[in-house]
Amino acid sequence: MFKQFDWIMPTKIIFGEGRLNEIGKIAAGVGNKAFLVTGKTAMKKLGFTQRVQDYLRSEGIDSILFDQIEPNPSLETANRGAQLAKENDCDVIIALGGGSTMDVAKAVSTVKTYRGSVEDYLGNDKVPGLILPIIAVPSTAGTGSEVTRYAVLTNTAINRKDSLRSEFIIPKVAIVDPELMVSQSPRLTSSTGIDALTHAVEAYTSPQADSFSDIAAAEAIRLVGIYLRRAVWEEENMEARSGMALASTLAGMAICQAGTGAAHGLGMSVGGFFNTEHGTTVGLILPYVMEYNFVANLEKYAKIATLLGEKVDGLSLRKAALKSIEAIVGFIQDIDIPSNLSQIGAKKEMADEIAKDAITQGAMRNNIRRLTSKEIKAIYKKACG
Ligand code: NZQ
Ligand code: MN
Repeated sequence: MFKQFDWIMPTKIIFGEGRLNEIGKIAAGVGNKAFLVTGKTAMKKLGFTQRVQDYLRSEGIDSILFDQIEPNPSLETANRGAQLAKENDCDVIIALGGGSTMDVAKAVSTVKTYRGSVEDYLGNDKVPGLILPIIAVPSTAGTGSEVTRYAVLTNTAINRKDSLRSEFIIPKVAIVDPELMVSQSPRLTSSTGIDALTHAVEAYTSPQADSFSDIAAAEAIRLVGIYLRRAVWEEENMEARSGMALASTLAGMAICQAGTGAAHGLGMSVGGFFNTEHGTTVGLILPYVMEYNFVANLEKYAKIATLLGEKVDGLSLRKAALKSIEAIVGFIQDIDIPSNLSQIGAKKEMADEIAKDAITQGAMRNNIRRLTSKEIKAIYKKACG
């Protein structure tokens, strides 16, 4: 049976090595004055910030630089950016960096277009309509934020990650240029890469999965299986970097449609409380969530095992499904992701607080198998080691 679905993917994706140099022409097609959002160090040090400013200038586009984005960006940072974009009356927003940068750009564009502060747009479908065009240039592979309808921000006063969720914040253009990703350290590559895999697995098994999201998610899983180890351990391997760039964008398309699941539900809370790296956090939780979830769709979990190159011939469907967990545990070890949450700063004693927050996260409600606070706590404690 084929179920009904709506598919939306309004982003023009410009994919391939060296294509950053097209950004001037692209920006000139949509605006006159750019607001360039980026992190504090990496892009500047590598010369990409300067290159973008030069490409823009050569097309007659002025730019205002906002290079203040921290990992797990705060609402406060996003509000500061929005204020600056307003003061300078920018009409196109460019994000150059990882998920944190792209998410701030989405919030900035929303507040610049409408009014108030970022807080007014947190939640489902609070953005009233189209926003200023965003050109997203991811430098990690990654969140897939260049094609998603999410912008994740942290309310530092209450240690909570929350998000804007709206079709209107999906970037207009994504320049997916693997050359920007080569500089990721093995550690950053594994953290961001396992995030892409977690997106693909959670979207593939999501109750909202549809025919298109399945195609994107399955191909992302296959590509991660082939390329993530190589991208981590052969940093300069451009084929591996391109494979991961493609995988993360595909996985982003899949979650844009199908959403994530309990690894992200819990991961959001852990990230909010302990400011941990997003990818490592969700990747580390994923096998624990799969152990709980796999019974709810043996076929899909067995397919994940196959996509990751596991041999399942002659196995029962249940055993084949379990192979997907084995594959991901092996993967996590091979790319040096820590084996439990305590190693990255989470506290087992905080299980009650974490579960209280996690149960309110949209991703948790989207999980294939229902969880109560009791199960969430059990998974969290197990993942803490
Ligand atoms: O601080 P700078 O100097 O900018 O350096 C960054 C940052 O410290 C560095 N970096 C980025 N690209 C680099 C690089 N270093 C060397 N070479 C490069 N090419 O990496 C550090 C982490 O960057 P960040 O943007 O925080 O990482 P990531 O891309 O993993 O993004 C994580 C954020 O995205 C959100 C997460 O919650 C988290 O806040 N997510 C967004 C989603 C979405 N919008 O759809 C979905 C995801 O599930 C996720 O929740
Ligand atoms: Mn993620």
